[in-house]
Amino acid sequence: NQTPSNAADMDKRQRSELTRLPAPADLDFAKQSGSVQQFELEGQTVRYRAFENIVYVLNPVDTRYQFMNIYIPEAYFQDESIDDFTAETAPIFLPNQVGGYMPATAGRPELDKRSGSPNAMMVALSKGYVVASAGARGRTESTGRAPAAIVDLKAAVRYLKANDKQMAGDANKIISNGTSAGGALSALLGTSGNAPEFEPYLQQLGAATADDTIFAVSAYCPIANLEHADMAYEWQFNGVNDYQKISIENVDYRIERKLINGVQTSEQIKLSDELKQAFIPYINSLNLYNKQGVKLTLDADGNGSFKRHIEGLLMQSAQEAINRGEDLSDQTWLTITNGRVVAADFAAYAKFVGRQKTTPAFDGIDLSTAENNLFGDQQVAKKHFTDFSMANSTVLGASKADSRTVYMMNPMNFQSKTKYYRIRHGENDRDTSLAISTLMALKLDKENKVVDFALPWGRGHSGDYDLQELFDWAKSISA
Ligand code: DHB
Repeated sequence: NQTPSNAADMDKRQRSELTRLPAPADLDFAKQSGSVQQFELEGQTVRYRAFENIVYVLNPVDTRYQFMNIYIPEAYFQDESIDDFTAETAPIFLPNQVGGYMPATAGRPELDKRSGSPNAMMVALSKGYVVASAGARGRTESTGRAPAAIVDLKAAVRYLKANDKQMAGDANKIISNGTSAGGALSALLGTSGNAPEFEPYLQQLGAATADDTIFAVSAYCPIANLEHADMAYEWQFNGVNDYQKISIENVDYRIERKLINGVQTSEQIKLSDELKQAFIPYINSLNLYNKQGVKLTLDADGNGSFKRHIEGLLMQSAQEAINRGEDLSDQTWLTITNGRVVAADFAAYAKFVGRQKTTPAFDGIDLSTAENNLFGDQQVAKKHFTDFSMANSTVLGASKADSRTVYMMNPMNFQSKTKYYRIRHGENDRDTSLAISTLMALKLDKENKVVDFALPWGRGHSGDYDLQELFDWAKSISA
């Protein structure tokens, strides 16, 4: 299991020791000098040039995070090609390392700290991609709250585009990647390309003068659509009142994840009922259709074609697992007859995988969530971002984030300029409702984008677990 790491796991002591880089005199990549490095991967020696610690804006706010590491296969300096990619045509793989909407430093090609397997950047280099990993500000710093992280990632894109001629790789083939909060930002980078809302922020940072559209998006379990994520969560988990919460605690400078078991209070159950109901008109307002042209809706009880659509996705996931030889007989929410998955019961599924968050899952009425912190500002660390939780707030003097900022963080609010999307949401992920990524995929389908969406069997809240398939997809769209 590779959960988002880096900044989310970085303890306080490490963070205060991060280097503050000087502001750059210009944004010219030609002036960077790289160092030749190499690693072995499956018997292959991968040589590349590393250009690290590049501050990607002229007027940075926090250079502990606003920098980028760029890695270019050495072959492209020798006029060679890798798997038909050349210095001119190689796509640029742009993974962000954001987890938990925390600040993130730029990544490096290395073994994943948890799994010990090569990370996406290593695999990308071995397959001939130019790799650019950008750090970004995050919620725990007063200057890192929304929309800072997405503004930073856009500035990094502009840097790559402005330097297309000076740098190996094709900046018209930028493929973004991220998981969880980073998955939401990856999707937002795609849908909000060149959106004018971000322009003043980019100007203020002294971002390179270039467009910030990207070619393709890979997003794992995006914690997105935060305006509607509480409703979606209760539509999925309403009636499941036992929960197993993950509490992330900073114990003696070490991050510890504790599981806390509990039961929803009567107040939480009441809020759950209200949020579930609020999800129904939202779904019905979206005018979404499945591939057969059936409109996806919900009735007054929260049942209907939209729910059946998600049940279908779960059945497909289960069928693929069975076809690989997995035994799913313990999955009591599935009906399997002679090796065929013939039914999935969404309510039984929710009970089976279990509730992980209490109501409301994202806009905490006590301002206790990561997202409350995300939508704080420089003066106020935590805010509400939905009318519902504002109205039900238990915090005296609590305020609500300005609606424009909330709007700017949601990939669903933009008409996508990016054509290609690969979205994965683990079948048993309970960090956000399966409806969130499903809606994103359906909306992009409706905009005639090329969307590859699945709920991989047996996966929870994690990403980068299928790098072979990820880069097969990247190759297929880049050819
Ligand atoms: C992440 C997970 C969450 O459950 C959440 O609410 C926000 C972010 C994450 O892993 O990035």
